[in-house]
Amino acid sequence: MDHDESPVLDALAEYHDRGYLDFAPPGHKQGLGADDAVRRVLGPEVFHSDVLATGALDDRRSSNRVLERAQELMADAVGAQQAFFSTCGSSLSVKSAMMAVAAPGETMLVGRDAHKSVIAGLTLTGIQPVWVRPRWDRELHLAHPPSPEAYDEAFAEHPEAVGALVTSPSPYGTCSDLKSIARVCHDHGKPLIVDEAWGAHLPFHDDLPTWAMDADADVCVVSVHKMGAGFEQGSVFHLQGDLIDPVRLKQSADLLSTTSPNVLLYAAMDGWRRQMVRDGRELLGSALRLAHAVRASIDELPGLRVIEKQLVAKEASHDLDRLQIMIDTLDAGISGYQAADWLREERAVNVGLSDHRRILAQLTFADTPERTDRLVSALGDLTRTSLPAPSSVVLPEPRDLELEQVMLPREAFFAAQETVPVEEAADRIAAEQVTPYPPGIPVILPGERISAGVIDYLRSGKTATMVIPDAADPSLKSIRVVADT
Ligand SMILES: Cc1ncc(COP(=O)(O)O)c(C=O)c1O
Repeated sequence: MDHDESPVLDALAEYHDRGYLDFAPPGHKQGLGADDAVRRVLGPEVFHSDVLATGALDDRRSSNRVLERAQELMADAVGAQQAFFSTCGSSLSVKSAMMAVAAPGETMLVGRDAHKSVIAGLTLTGIQPVWVRPRWDRELHLAHPPSPEAYDEAFAEHPEAVGALVTSPSPYGTCSDLKSIARVCHDHGKPLIVDEAWGAHLPFHDDLPTWAMDADADVCVVSVHKMGAGFEQGSVFHLQGDLIDPVRLKQSADLLSTTSPNVLLYAAMDGWRRQMVRDGRELLGSALRLAHAVRASIDELPGLRVIEKQLVAKEASHDLDRLQIMIDTLDAGISGYQAADWLREERAVNVGLSDHRRILAQLTFADTPERTDRLVSALGDLTRTSLPAPSSVVLPEPRDLELEQVMLPREAFFAAQETVPVEEAADRIAAEQVTPYPPGIPVILPGERISAGVIDYLRSGKTATMVIPDAADPSLKSIRVVADT
C-alpha cells in the first residue's frame, strides 16, 4: 500500500480548497460563529478542520471511502488484518472488543489490573468476570501483570470462559508475556483481547516491547493520544485471525459510539500512521536513546531511584517500555503526590502518574533534549527542597486487596443501594467502583465485598492526597453499597 497517502488529511485539504459552504453541523460554521476569545485561545485552524465526517469530509454516500482507506492503511502499517478508528478513546474500544467476544452471562478471564473502562464494560454487558490476579511485589508495592500460568489455571478452572482480556503495557509501562498468554488462549480455542492503550507506538520499533498483533492476540486496542501523536480520545482497535467476527466488533462499536465523530481525531491518527511508517524507527530510536540518558541522569540525583531492572526481574513483569521512566521517591522522604505537586507548582512540569511513592515521567518521540534537561533540572531542584514528611499510606496485605466478587458488577450496580459512612462499609458489598486516578485501576468494584484493609488503604491514601474521581463521594467519607434486604 502507498503509505505516503493520507486519505483523511487529503480529503480535508480538498474540502478547504473547494471552499465548501455547509448548511449542516457543526454550527460554528468553520469558526465564523465562534466567540473571538475562544478562537484566540484555540486558534482558527481547529475550527476550520472541524467538519462532518459524512457529508463534508466525504460525500453522503462515503463514496470516496476516506475513512475506510485510512483504516486499511493503519492495519497494513501495523500488520493487523483490520483496523477501526474510534473517537471515544480506548475506553470505548475495549468495551466494543469485550462485546464482540462475550454475551451477557458468559464468562471472560480478566486481569484484575484492568482499567476502569473494562469494569464499565462488564457493568454494561453483564459479562461474568473471572479475575486473574496480578503478582504483588512486596518490595516495590506494585502489581506486576498476571502470568501466562495464571491464565492457564483460570481456563482449567473455567473451561466455559469464552475469551481472555489482558492489560499490557500497564499504565506503569510494565508488560505481560503476551505471546505465551495468546498461546494459552489459542490452546483452548479462545480469543485474546489486549488492552494496549499505552502501546500505540510498539509496532514501530523493535526495541520496544512486543506488540499485541505480533504476539498473536486476536484484538487489541490502542490510544493513539497516549504514546502516539493523536489528539486526546483518538483510539484504534486492531483485529486479526478468525476467532472474532469483524462485523460483530464493528456493530458493537457502533452501539457505543457517537454519531458525530471528530474529524480532527481521524486526521491526526491518519497523519501519525504515515509519519510512523516513514520515520517511526528513527524517531522512536532517538526517543529510546534519550530515555536511556535521562534515566541515568535522574538516577544520579540523591534520593531519586529509577526503577528498571527490578521491574523485569524473574517473576516480575515480562518486559518494560523504557520510554516510561518510573522514579521512586521513597529515599527522598517524600511521596509521589508531593513530588508531582511540587514539580507542577514550582517548575511548571507535569508528570504522567504519581502514587504514594513514585512518579512516572512519560517520554515519547516528541521529546527533545531541551525538554528532558528541564525535567532533570526540575527534579534536581526537588531533591534540594525540603518538604514536610508525607502522610503515610496504609498498604494492605495482598490478600486484603483481593476482594471477593460476590455479585456480578452489573447486578451490584443496578441493585437497590444505600450510602453508608466509610467506617461502616467493611463486609458490605460495593455498589460502585472506587478508582484512584491515575492509574485508573479500580481498588473496589461493584459486587465486591469491601475489606477493612482496603478501606484503611483508601482513607490513608486520601489523606495523602490520592484522587478518587469516580466515587459517588470523592472525599470517601461515605460509600455506596448494595442495600441490605
Ligand atoms: C490501561 C488503560 N486502558 C484503557 C484506557 C482508556 O483509554 P482512553 O483514555 O483512550 O479512553 C486507559 C486510560 O488511561 C488505560 O490506562
